[in-house]
Amino acid sequence: MTAPVNSPLLELRHIDTFYGPAQVHFDLNLRVNADEIVCLLGGNASGKSTTMKVILGLVTPRAGHVLFEGQGITGLPTPQIVRRGIGSVPEARRIFPDMTVRENLLMGAYSRSDAQAVKLDYERMLDLFPRLQERINQRGGVLSGGEQQMLAFGRALMSRPRLICMDEPTMGLSPLFVDRVLETIEKIRAQGIAVFMVEQNANLALQIAQRGYVLQNGHIVLEGAARDLLDSPAIRDAYLGESQKEK
Ligand SMILES: Nc1ncnc2c1ncn2[C@@H]1O[C@H](COP(=O)(O)OP(=O)(O)OP(=O)(O)O)[C@@H](O)[C@H]1O
Ligand SMILES: [Mg+2]
Repeated sequence: MTAPVNSPLLELRHIDTFYGPAQVHFDLNLRVNADEIVCLLGGNASGKSTTMKVILGLVTPRAGHVLFEGQGITGLPTPQIVRRGIGSVPEARRIFPDMTVRENLLMGAYSRSDAQAVKLDYERMLDLFPRLQERINQRGGVLSGGEQQMLAFGRALMSRPRLICMDEPTMGLSPLFVDRVLETIEKIRAQGIAVFMVEQNANLALQIAQRGYVLQNGHIVLEGAARDLLDSPAIRDAYLGESQKEK
């Protein structure tokens, strides 16, 4: 099942999301093409993580549609969405702290039944992240923040996604690990996996993304090619302006 040429891999159309009476998204429209890193920028509480939750089926929008490879996935249970090819690296990584590195990685393949291919992917993952190989029998919880991020990437990749969604993958990491994480995201894309990345740090995200969207109070206020956004004075108003409010 592949997307028709020129149709986006992922599309959000006219999404309105609520938590109880509080509206979080207002007519949200965005898309990710098969060969792209796309970032969603915005200040605190603008609705970024909720966007990821809508894509992954953790929150059902009150209006609008989520399409993956041209098919509606709105409201499907998360495991079905994962099986269709969307992987995730959630906020604050959320690896399983009491499971070993090996167990964490294999959990990523829980929805797959092709044991032989899972074994090969597992080996590939250890090539991609040699640091994990060294710690394969240790508990996830004892890894450093940067190592846990690599483990969360590896676990997400074990589901063989065509799209991987990441919520603030560089948060709380030292500059060295931030660079590693950005390089890894580019490597992931080079393997033909599209990336949808939520970030507060516009400068970092726009260095590796092809396109970006800026979310402010649940509205997309700006979108475009990453290089145009980087040069845009409006991004400072729309994005830095908001994050400086009420702090
Ligand atoms: N489960 C929930 N129930 C009620 N309100 C929620 C829930 N989750 C998030 N919200 C609210 O929805 C709004 C958007 O939250 P969201 O987590 O999507 O923002 P965000 O852009 O990811 O913020 P941050 O940069 O702080 O991570 C916030 O006002 C938040 O308080
Ligand atoms: Mg968030």
